[in-house]
Amino acid sequence: MTLPVCFSLNVNDAVESVEASPETPLLYILRNDLALNGPKYGCGLGECGACAVLVDGRAVRSCTIPLRAVGTRRVTTLEGLGTPEHLHPVQAAFIDEAAAQCGYCLNGMIIATAALLNRNADPDEEAIREALRHHLCRCGTHMEILAAARRAVAYAKAERTHRSTPDDISPDAAKEVSP
Ligand code: FES
Ligand code: FES
Repeated sequence: MTLPVCFSLNVNDAVESVEASPETPLLYILRNDLALNGPKYGCGLGECGACAVLVDGRAVRSCTIPLRAVGTRRVTTLEGLGTPEHLHPVQAAFIDEAAAQCGYCLNGMIIATAALLNRNADPDEEAIREALRHHLCRCGTHMEILAAARRAVAYAKAERTHRSTPDDISPDAAKEVSP
């Protein structure tokens, strides 16, 4: 049995101290120790994407990354993406598109879309589909999720060009990046 070790984690721009076995999945620490319930437990096997978080801006499945592998890298969960006053463009897009049924998969869909925008400011349809391809939705909401991702691209573009809030954007803006 591995004895618990004290770790300092950088989560949502705060330093968090936790004591746990080095092999503990990051997901367990986020949900059970830090009460960050944005990331969901789906398969626990790295297959569904429900548990995704950003690690240094890249999407990572937190159910398969052990605590010891996180180190000082910056972890961002759904809670740390935006604020209620200023939603992240991807969060705003998913809300405006009402892209959910049960919502269980949405954490992963939003994190994957945010990670895509981090590495590609202007992704085309193929890049969007590729980014979301390995995220499962048992409710079959894929069309709405894709629409939300397209809208997120439009919102992020607008934010970059100083049209300050997603509220400024017409629903037609998202269609500009549709196939
Ligand atoms: S719960 Fe992590 S990928 Fe399914
Ligand atoms: S909305 Fe239910 S799993 Fe995707």
